Amino acid sequence: MKARNGAVLLVLAMVMGCSAGETADQPAQDSQVAAAPAATAAAATTQEPTGPIDQALATEGEGYFTSRGCASCHKIDAKLIGPALKGVTTRRSYDWIVAMVVRPDSMQQNDAEAKKLLAEYGTPMVNMGATKAEARALFEYLRQKSQ
Ligand code: HEC
Repeated sequence: MKARNGAVLLVLAMVMGCSAGETADQPAQDSQVAAAPAATAAAATTQEPTGPIDQALATEGEGYFTSRGCASCHKIDAKLIGPALKGVTTRRSYDWIVAMVVRPDSMQQNDAEAKKLLAEYGTPMVNMGATKAEARALFEYLRQKSQ
């Protein structure tokens, strides 16, 4: 339920982001002015980082790798409790990785690939309470480590 609310909010933020863009050079009403900056910021923190590695974002992600407890179950180069994460950003999509980081519990129930991994590893990945913005930084860290 929580995850579904999150998805609805994301869609809402995206829709608001688009309409704000389309009306950007028209005189906006007060309510649009108030809504636009938040919607744009939300979209920016959930977009897939592409192109050259954003070093600052990757360093931020490296911090979350420890502070969110990922390091207790994952290493980059070797299997621990969970899979080695080197190359994960090339074998999985951005959306899949973010979903797995933010709500692994739901993925283990609903996603075919996550179910397969769980069957293989025997231990469920735990929901560590990472936000989408943190997942994005974690993705950039993993993308850097996969190069
Ligand atoms: C309690 C141990 C544990 C913790 C903590 C944990 N994971 Fe996992 N992770 C796993 C296991 C086990 C799997 C394999 C799937 C499953 O069993 O649910 C997995 C799978 C994954 C995958 C998919 C790997 C692949 O090969 O497709 C990614 C990406 C991932 N974890 C990232 C993270 C990140 C980032 C964090 C920190 C926010 C984290 N994990 C925290 C145990 C953990």
